[in-house]
Amino acid sequence: MCETRYAPVTEKVVEDLVSILGPSGVTTDRGKRAVYSMDETLPGFERDYIADVLCFPENAEHVSAILKYANEHIIPVTPRGAGTGLSGGAVPVFGGIVMSMERMNSILEIDKANRTLTTEPGVVTSEVTKAARDRGLFYAGDPCSGDISFIGGNVAENAGGNKVIKYGATGAHVLGLEAALPDGNLVSFGGKLRKDVTSYDFIHLLVGSEGTLAVVTKIILNLLPLPKCVTDLLVPMSSVESAVRLIPLITTEGGVIPSSIEFMDRNSIHNVEEYTSLKIPHSGAAAQLIIQLDGMDRKQLWSDVERIGDLCVKNGAVEVFVAEDKNARDRVWRIRKYVAEEEWTGSMPILSKEDIVVPSSEVSAFLARLPDIAKNHSATYNAYGHIGDGNIHITIFPDGIDPSADLHALAIPLRNELYAYVKRLGGTLSGEHGVGLKRKEYAGIFMNEAQIELMKRVKRAFDPNNILNPSKLVP
Ligand code: LAC
Ligand code: ZN
Repeated sequence: MCETRYAPVTEKVVEDLVSILGPSGVTTDRGKRAVYSMDETLPGFERDYIADVLCFPENAEHVSAILKYANEHIIPVTPRGAGTGLSGGAVPVFGGIVMSMERMNSILEIDKANRTLTTEPGVVTSEVTKAARDRGLFYAGDPCSGDISFIGGNVAENAGGNKVIKYGATGAHVLGLEAALPDGNLVSFGGKLRKDVTSYDFIHLLVGSEGTLAVVTKIILNLLPLPKCVTDLLVPMSSVESAVRLIPLITTEGGVIPSSIEFMDRNSIHNVEEYTSLKIPHSGAAAQLIIQLDGMDRKQLWSDVERIGDLCVKNGAVEVFVAEDKNARDRVWRIRKYVAEEEWTGSMPILSKEDIVVPSSEVSAFLARLPDIAKNHSATYNAYGHIGDGNIHITIFPDGIDPSADLHALAIPLRNELYAYVKRLGGTLSGEHGVGLKRKEYAGIFMNEAQIELMKRVKRAFDPNNILNPSKLVP
């Protein structure tokens, strides 16, 4: 699809948008446009992309009217949550309209009888969690960026995060969606229902579709009983191999599914210590795990903690730190969250950030091969992430490469070798950060032609004029 096909955003277009949204709902301010045209993808792209105009709808009718107008005039629209994305999903490749969902920021209802929460898309994820908790209920979605990200962005990306092993990714919690189609029609799928086979499963087609098929305007989420007690174990391990071997034993021998099993290798821990004031116990250990257990009964949970703690010690743990109260637990998670954050603030140039998933049985082979792959491309790396889901984040740094070198070009052969190995293991390109703009050219490695053609046909069925978030996800 070529850029010249799209109509330019003229003064008349801006006036028309103002007539839909009012003057406070539209801006062409250069500085604002620049801010609303980026996300957190590092390293950035080979060039800067910039919206021509920003729109701030306040309700579904606004969203629908903007899309109808853009579709009739063939102007690209890039929907945007909080901009915490890690694959360029919210970057306006062809300029045009960036539609920020930030003003659609109300939690509409918590329905205790149905255990549902209905929300607009621009609500910060942690506000959803808190609102549910205040009513004695539990929203189990828990992306690492949850203090900033929007729930609508979580839906668009099918955000994963820290509790997927027990509770599933965002899509597992979505019962209903209202969305505006690219032609402006409003549709709604599902509802306060836990079963519905009346149609195709459009909910789970839209979840994770990265804003390429429709713009979600309302979300109905499933809530759970709030676990009464939660305990985190921070477990330094004597070797990466023993850490990987321990993970399935927690369930097969320990008899529990933890709410989180997270992994940080020695380099990740080392970087957190170097770039923050945190002192991490046993920071020289080969790897550290965070194992979170939750439940309703303190005695039962404590017996689980003891059993899993013993299992860790028998299987290569250097020590097991038990964090029960909120402060201690926050300290444990701060270490984990800093791993990704320090990469932002750290001064190291980054070659690539990866979001690989392999079957659990192949995590060991994958981590064993990583040092060689990195070495072949004169690189070092941090490996960390949601190892309980087989989802490993890898941040790859150039080692001894001239910092002025073209990092984009250097990353290509490295990615090709990495992805070929991941594919051989039965794995995939991205578990939660998405394909977006960043990984689009590699998605074909993991799909055959028939699958790619099917994706293109689905995209065309929803968006025949290709106005909605063009140049994302679909190879
Ligand atoms: C994390 C983000 C980067 O897991 O996905 O820290
Ligand atoms: Zn993650």
